[in-house]
Formats: sequence, structure tokens, C-alpha cells
Amino acid sequence: MGKRYVFITRKLPDDVVAPLYDKYDVNMWPHEHLVVPRDVLLQEASRAEALITMLSDRIDEELLQQSPKLRVVANVAVGYDNIDVEAATKRGVIVCNTPDVLTETTADLTFALLLATARRLVEAAEFIKEGKWKSWSPLLLAGTDVHHKTIGIVGMGKIGQAVAHRAKGFHMRVLYYNRSRNIEAERTLGAMYCSFDALLEQADFVVCLAPLTNETYRLFNREAFMKMKRSAIFINAGRGAVVDEEALYDALINQHIAGAGLDVFAQEPIRSDHPLLQLPNVVALPHIGSATKETRYAMMQLCCRNVIAVLEGKEPYTPVQSQ
Ligand code: DGY
Repeated sequence: MGKRYVFITRKLPDDVVAPLYDKYDVNMWPHEHLVVPRDVLLQEASRAEALITMLSDRIDEELLQQSPKLRVVANVAVGYDNIDVEAATKRGVIVCNTPDVLTETTADLTFALLLATARRLVEAAEFIKEGKWKSWSPLLLAGTDVHHKTIGIVGMGKIGQAVAHRAKGFHMRVLYYNRSRNIEAERTLGAMYCSFDALLEQADFVVCLAPLTNETYRLFNREAFMKMKRSAIFINAGRGAVVDEEALYDALINQHIAGAGLDVFAQEPIRSDHPLLQLPNVVALPHIGSATKETRYAMMQLCCRNVIAVLEGKEPYTPVQSQ
């Protein structure tokens, strides 16, 4: 019997994938920064028992139906909206993600984005490098305070909770909205559960960490932005499609809200001429929430461990089907 075939949809570091090469016939898409074309993905999946995928790879009914040997899909992300989990489950394919290992890192970035947007850090950094700094002036690049303000977190999972923890350090009042109450966050962090509308109306910083589902698709629409304070800053470190970006643009341009910090976009990569990127009160990042070397290594390693576990007939570490 030949070795079992594993396809990895992006070039990952050799030391990360070494344990797989020892056991299986492994093929890796050779590019670090290029998405594997759909036809190549379909072709490779059709003979694979395991796939390690990125959030840009669509694992849907079409692919699953043509991949009779497939037993596990390990996604290098905690989010798995790129995967049709229901279709996979029906075919007995285990889907794994990377929870926990990225929680603190993603919360750090979310809070950094909030601070950067509130205190206009990107504008200020460009200002000094462009030689525009002529004098200290009372209102030069004046932003807005973060400490003692109200943060409203939409999506109070582990990352939301870790953001709330940081917010407490800034003496912020923490509101949250979630599918279900998070009693632990209420007890340990004093976070207050409220309706989506009440959160929008009261929060100085509205932070979206919600996963993308049918229910959250374009949750932040025109009406949502209209309900926010005119001084509010919107932060999105969840998924881009949870936001109607045209409505966000209009809210910013018409000063219905004061600014936005965005790590995620409906279409990724976003075009550099996208209207949102032209606004001075938008801080935009290329989906780097979990991007530290430590955490990205931990995520990739967890994927390899999940693949090995399933192919060796053991329980995977982090199957989404049981989360
Ligand atoms: C995730 O894991 O879902 C993030 O969006 C990327 O780290």
C-alpha cells in the first residue's frame, strides 16, 4: 500500500511540516503568498486523505464530492467560514481549526488597532516621515481617549473575552452582545450583556469579533451604523462580510461615526484603490490578527497534529464538529 497523500495549500516552513513528511506522501503548493488555483485544489483534493487549508480556500460540496478519500481538513485559522462543515460532516470528513493558540495574540492586535485608530497613529507616523512636523501644537493630530470609555464587543468568544480583559486594564466599561450570555465574562470581567441596539447606542468603541455565519452576514448594515454615536469608532477583527462596507463608507464620509480600524474585508485582499482605504480616519491592516511568529507557528503545528491524529485513527485535538 502506498503512503497516504496529504496536500497543503500553501508553502509552510520545512520544520513545521517535517513530521508529516516522515509519515506521508506530502505535496505542498510551492508559493508562500499566492492562493492555490481552484483547479489545482480540486485536482489535489481528489487524491488526498488530508488537506491543510488556508481561510482563502473554499472547501465546499463540489470539492468534497470529488474527494472520496478525504478524511480531514485542517484549516490554519480559528474561523472556518470557508468550509462547508455540514457537507463535510455528512461525508464523514473531520474539520479542524486552531482555537486557543491565537486568542491572546489576536486580542493584542485588536486592541492595538483600537488604540491606533483612536490616537491616529498611522496618520501621525506618516506625518513625521513626510517631514510635515513643524511645531508642537495643542491640537496637532489630536485623537480621542480610550481609557474610561465604553467598549462594546460583538462576539464574546475567547478572543472577545481577551479583548475585554485588556479593556479592563484601561478602566473601560465593557458591554457585549453575543448569541448567548457569557456568564464567565460577566463574573470575571464585569462585562455587561446588552442587546445589539443598546450596544451600538452606548459604545464609544464598537468591536466586531463575530464569526461569519448566515446570521451575522452584513450584521453591521446602514441601520447599525446610524445607531452608533457620531463619536464612535468601529473596529473589525472578525470577518469582513459581517459588515456592509458600502454602508460603512457612507457612515464615515457622512460623519455618522468617527473612524474605523479594519483588519478584515469582504474581499481579501482588498484592492488598494478601494474607497475605504482612501479615508484618513480608516486604519486598515491586511488580516494580521494572529500574525506573530509564535502564534502562526503554533497554528500550523496544531494543523499538522490534527492531521496526524486523524490519519492514525485517533481523536483530533480541535475538531470544529465538537465545538
Ligand atoms: C482566524 O484564525 O480565523 C483569523 O482570522 C486568522 O488568524
